[in-house]
Amino acid sequence: MLAIIGGSGMDQLPGLKLDQQRAVQTPYAAEPVVVQAGTLEGASQDVAFLPRHGADHAVPPHRINYRANIFALHKLAVSGVLAVNAVGGLSPTMGPGVIAIPDQIIDYTWGREHTFFDGSISGIESPDQFSDTVAHIDFTEPYDADLRQLLIDAAVEQGVVIQTHGTYAATQGPRLETPAEVRRLLRDGSDLVGMTGMPEAALAREIGLPYACVALSVNWAAGISDELITMDSIRQVLEQGMGSVRQILQAAIRL
Ligand code: HPA
Repeated sequence: MLAIIGGSGMDQLPGLKLDQQRAVQTPYAAEPVVVQAGTLEGASQDVAFLPRHGADHAVPPHRINYRANIFALHKLAVSGVLAVNAVGGLSPTMGPGVIAIPDQIIDYTWGREHTFFDGSISGIESPDQFSDTVAHIDFTEPYDADLRQLLIDAAVEQGVVIQTHGTYAATQGPRLETPAEVRRLLRDGSDLVGMTGMPEAALAREIGLPYACVALSVNWAAGISDELITMDSIRQVLEQGMGSVRQILQAAIRL
């Protein structure tokens, strides 16, 4: 069973028959993580769905309990995670409406609980995967190659044009960037900027969960175009683009 982590504009997922709710207790939160589960409409494939910002989109990027979310999916024994992220476009090919399957990450976030290997892991049932000793995961290829290919194949099957590469810059938020920060991200080689890509991807790797990202560009990053970034215009692009993202996800689950 694959899991989808929904982002902004994707707190729900039409096309999925999510008729079960699993409340998963984790060592990282007093409250359980509520994961929806069900099947693809008109098909039999199981799928799990977790809206990253909460069911009512109330949790801002820096307050998301990434560890609890990823641990809950691990506990449900999902086979992989398809993460959906709304992003700003940095490089010229990543304008509003463009969908990308990034292959690299730069982490600019700070102050987030970003690792399972923090030397204080009590109450975890699978001690083989966790230890109190220092652990350094390999992150040369931060996104799972097979899952990335699955998403690319799904897009091709659906005739949805995508960018098959890109470096995702994960910023702290919740504010958007200054133009000077955007110039720095570009100098660093980033193509897309978002606030939720990390530590999610690294935690998935730490816990052994294959993970890939579908990023939808919803605006030009600050200072790249003359237009002000407004929530209204972001919402418009989100609504238009999420149809294609959904198509890709549904095809990926079926493939
Ligand atoms: N910057 C950071 N995160 C974002 C943006 C942006 O411009 N657009 C959507 N998420």
